[in-house]
Amino acid sequence: MSGRYIAFEGIDGAGKSTVAEAVAEELRSGERVVVTVREPGGTPVGEAIREILLHSHDDLEPWSEALLFAAARAQLAAETVAPLLDSGAWVLSDRSVYSSLAYQGAGRGLGIDLVRTVNAAGLGDVWPDLVVVLELDATAGLARQEEPDRIGGEGIALQEQVAAAYRQIAETDARVVFVDGSRSLTEVVRDSVAVIRERLIESV
Ligand code: ADP
Ligand code: TYD
Repeated sequence: MSGRYIAFEGIDGAGKSTVAEAVAEELRSGERVVVTVREPGGTPVGEAIREILLHSHDDLEPWSEALLFAAARAQLAAETVAPLLDSGAWVLSDRSVYSSLAYQGAGRGLGIDLVRTVNAAGLGDVWPDLVVVLELDATAGLARQEEPDRIGGEGIALQEQVAAAYRQIAETDARVVFVDGSRSLTEVVRDSVAVIRERLIESV
């Protein structure tokens, strides 16, 4: 048995965690088990790394940052995501390796391909089947954040680079789809469910 791995992506404040939870509710039916996870975090090791990344240090070097995100992700993949997928469950993730491609690869200038390679080493075949990018203007995203973390609070330029990076990545990666995140929550959830059904349910 093999489940499905769906990542929600976008700039800070785009609505990922709210939408992921609501979409999970919609997709739960019959015997389908749907579990939500978040990055960085989702495991005891990952939550400890999250604290270092987002709340306790403001002097992280770009590659330290990238490797810590990759370490938290490798732990989540081995400990949680892979066993769930093996059991046939669906995993909906608030962020994924695609955040590292956009924020560290593009935003920090480390290179999208190199960041992909480093992350792939820790993930093996645990890679999202579908990446739903919620698109929202960077100013609106910042306004939606109640308490910005270290990276979310850096300012508009980084968020704009990240938004552009998702578009660039999608040019060569058919797993990436875009949903207009500026509309009401009901509409964003409806469109996200529709694209998931089209790509992962009706096509199988
Ligand atoms: P993210 O996980 O992308 O940072 P959140 O899901 O935490 O975003 O949402 C940020 C804030 O915006 C929350 O207060 C949430 O209730 C609100 N929000 C999410 N989606 C929408 C939407 N479509 N319209 C208006 N507000 C939204
Ligand atoms: P998150 O908790 O999802 O923040 P938000 O809800 O504001 O979107 O993510 C925390 C921050 O970490 C966010 O600014 C994006 C950043 N991040 C990266 O830079 N690289 C990564 O690989 C991940 C997973 C997150």
